[in-house]
Amino acid sequence: MKILITGGAGFLGQQLVRALLQEGSIKLTDGSGRAEDHEISRIVCFDVIEGQITDPRVVNRSGDIGDASTVAGLIDRETGVVVHLAAVVSGTAEADFDLGMRVNLDGTRNLLDSCRTQGHRPRLLFSSSIAVFGGDLPAIVTDATTPTPQGSYGTQKLIGELLVQDFTRKGFIDGRSVRVPTATVRPGSPNGAASGFASGIIREPLSGVQALLPVPEETAMWVASPRAIVRMFLHALMLSPKDWGWHRSINLPGFVVTMTQAIATLREIGGDAAVALVKRQPDPQVQKLVSTWAARFDTAKAKAMGFKADSDFGQIVRAYVEDNRGAVRLPVNL
Ligand SMILES: NC(=O)c1ccc[n+]([C@@H]2O[C@H](COP(=O)([O-])OP(=O)(O)OC[C@H]3O[C@@H](n4cnc5c(N)ncnc54)[C@H](O)[C@@H]3O)[C@@H](O)[C@H]2O)c1
Repeated sequence: MKILITGGAGFLGQQLVRALLQEGSIKLTDGSGRAEDHEISRIVCFDVIEGQITDPRVVNRSGDIGDASTVAGLIDRETGVVVHLAAVVSGTAEADFDLGMRVNLDGTRNLLDSCRTQGHRPRLLFSSSIAVFGGDLPAIVTDATTPTPQGSYGTQKLIGELLVQDFTRKGFIDGRSVRVPTATVRPGSPNGAASGFASGIIREPLSGVQALLPVPEETAMWVASPRAIVRMFLHALMLSPKDWGWHRSINLPGFVVTMTQAIATLREIGGDAAVALVKRQPDPQVQKLVSTWAARFDTAKAKAMGFKADSDFGQIVRAYVEDNRGAVRLPVNL
């Protein structure tokens, strides 16, 4: 089977490619409940940047998802699975409205149209975000809470979900949208996500570098590890159309972490020297955007469907250290 991953050279994209290559096959359950293993013959990694993974099964294609003619050439009838990760993230979409609309909205429409044109109803996973929730929310967001995004990124993600829902209803694709918690700890350099500090205040101090905390310490966030998110992507793909039912959007499990708790975990693992590298520097713009996001969820539906989050923040930070030994410069206590 051929798999297309848009945004495949990005952070979660590269982790997903690695996980798929390691598995070698993907198990998909069909409408009658029959699970079948499909050998992965090709992974097409589409992105504006170049993917780093070299494997005979991986083909890196670069281009702009906002360009309809480029996207039209990405899918053929052998493409059984499409994972749509390409996006400009929250801070960037808020700062550059036109870019957000082009990549996050036009790009999604281009991809869905390309699937529809082929007429073979591929299985498509769309990475939406908990940023579809915002504003005057209940203390705990549930599966019944109406999405009310308060930023351009969340709005573009929500429109994408609705399109995935309608293209599925029309029988053009077998679509699934997952609302992803903030992935932390993100290795490498920060991207344009307004939530980037949640990773930065762990990653930078452990590398011996100063990190800025732009929000108050009591700020709470709904988070999951990259490992758990990739596992949940694969689970979302595997489930049968019946498991999903008519409603194709779901809030993924995660857990709540406040910046106070994150700093306490940093102290446990990196000691006082690491904590001393966290500098409080309020940024009203980041604060405003983040304060509209939901931090507490009851994800009963996803849990009943078999999605699983991590157990605690310490476990996530330890996994980050294990996976990124080369980037960790301070002595750590695992
Ligand atoms: N990481 C998180 O915390 C998080 C949380 C919620 C949702 N998501 C969603 O998950 C997906 C992957 O996130 P990520 O953390 O890997 O982000 P990322 O920024 O690392 O990956 C997105 C990729 O999309 C690519 N891209 C941007 N513009 C493009 C264009 N015009 N054409 C083609 N590709 C383009 C980027 O180059 C990048 O590699 C995104 O859709 C994001 O919105 C991520």
